[in-house]
Amino acid sequence: MRFLTSLLLSAAAASAQNQLRGFNYGAQFLNDAPKRQVDFEYEFNAAKQLPGTNGQFTSARLYTMVQWQTTNTVIEAIQAAINTKTTLLLGLWASAGAATFDNEIVALKAAIQQFGSAFTDLVVGISVGSEDLYRISPTGIENKSGPGANPNELVRYIQLTRDAIRNTGLAGKPIGHVDTWTAYVNASNNAVIEALDFVGVDAYPYFQTTMENGIENGNKTFYDAFDATVAAARGKPVWVTETGWPVSGPQQNKAVASADNARIYWEDVSCSLMSKGINLYYYTLQDAQWGTPSPSFGVKPAGDLMQVQPLFDLSCPANAPTLFDFNVSIEAVSKTCNLVFYLPVDGHEWRAPYRILEPRVIIVSQLNNPSTYASNFRNTGMLAINGVPCQAGENVGYQLDSLRGLDWEFFQTTAPALGLFMTISG
Ligand SMILES: *[C@@H]1O[C@H](CO)[C@@H](O)[C@H](O)[C@H]1NC(C)=O
Ligand SMILES: *[C@@H]1O[C@H](CO)[C@@H](O)[C@H](O)[C@H]1NC(C)=O
Ligand SMILES: *[C@@H]1O[C@H](CO)[C@@H](O)[C@H](O)[C@H]1NC(C)=O
Ligand SMILES: *[C@@H]1O[C@H](CO)[C@@H](O)[C@H](O)[C@H]1NC(C)=O
Repeated sequence: MRFLTSLLLSAAAASAQNQLRGFNYGAQFLNDAPKRQVDFEYEFNAAKQLPGTNGQFTSARLYTMVQWQTTNTVIEAIQAAINTKTTLLLGLWASAGAATFDNEIVALKAAIQQFGSAFTDLVVGISVGSEDLYRISPTGIENKSGPGANPNELVRYIQLTRDAIRNTGLAGKPIGHVDTWTAYVNASNNAVIEALDFVGVDAYPYFQTTMENGIENGNKTFYDAFDATVAAARGKPVWVTETGWPVSGPQQNKAVASADNARIYWEDVSCSLMSKGINLYYYTLQDAQWGTPSPSFGVKPAGDLMQVQPLFDLSCPANAPTLFDFNVSIEAVSKTCNLVFYLPVDGHEWRAPYRILEPRVIIVSQLNNPSTYASNFRNTGMLAINGVPCQAGENVGYQLDSLRGLDWEFFQTTAPALGLFMTISG
């Protein structure tokens, strides 16, 4: 059990090294003013300096190659990325018809020409389109999400992109497409998947209103969508190109928008994606500049990005297990031993600090022995774990891990009971 765990951890650590972590960056502010080079630089630098993230958010996903409110001028984010050494997941906007797509290609070629390897070396991928298939699906239409593109158009745009980068500094860079998981599980879109090097998926449990989409199911809802995409992706790598939980906005079915819930989502989804070495572009760093979005997904609120603090903690929990030893009485021979974990009941703050988040799972493993129990706390302040035959007269060790890095610091006490106890029955 222990051995297996450490093997898995080192495999994850190895793959995490080349992993991409970043945010999504729109071309304009909420008041429709274009972002200029200075704005992009400010955002890219702020992302790298986010407290709690160890400077790991060094990649930027763009939606377009074209500077906002121009026909086909290169977006100023490119120079900003060069100046700040930010890697780029480029985006070519594909939902506004063939002529607009041609302008994306013009800007892409111009950027290669103008900046050379200073630009191309930073490019980690190119996404042809963003949620275009979602927009033409029944849900997209119902949600008035605007015009999209059909699979044939996208396949053609992907080919145009491959042609445009042939024999340039971008040759060999992976070409993908970004869409909702619902688009990928729809077999009518298979030709798009077929044409790609990687599959970018956007998934927001908050919007999955036909499901039990409360934050307590957020992680499962996200991974169900992710796993469904992987299953549809024909072995191509799946990148998480957008996900997030809103810090404010209306309740959607069971999903409540709040900074506390965004923190839980970050801890569960973002931290687990990062520990698994899956590419992640979180939505988003800041979406409330010069306007009031509803819902708002920004990690930071409106204001000077370098001055305002994140709305929730962005650190990922360290895996720090707690070990317990029991010297099992010789009189327990052929009896059943039970583990019981007592937590202080609410109102006994003096035993803090600890914090428990739904779904309150701790994992108990017996050391040098494969038995593992996962159990849910309820509000009784007590957790009971299945009985096992007592190892009478032996010293038995247990390791406690919390699924979501339960923070605790306490002295075990007997009156009142606090901590892990073994009871003997039968
Ligand atoms: C499946 O994909 C096709 C082609 O993109 C689209 O026309 C259709 O509406 C989609 N169906 C659903 C249920 O999303
Ligand atoms: C789109 O509409 C569906 C069905 O009404 C709803 O469940 C979902 O939350 C909407 N999605 C978005 C992104 O607004
Ligand atoms: C979230 O789900 C993933 C995939 O099943 C899992 O690896 C991870 O431990 C889960 N995290 C939490 C906090 O439940
Ligand atoms: C376990 O408890 C017994 C009985 O009190 C004692 O004799 C023994 O030394 C203890 N063993 C260890 C390893 O502490």
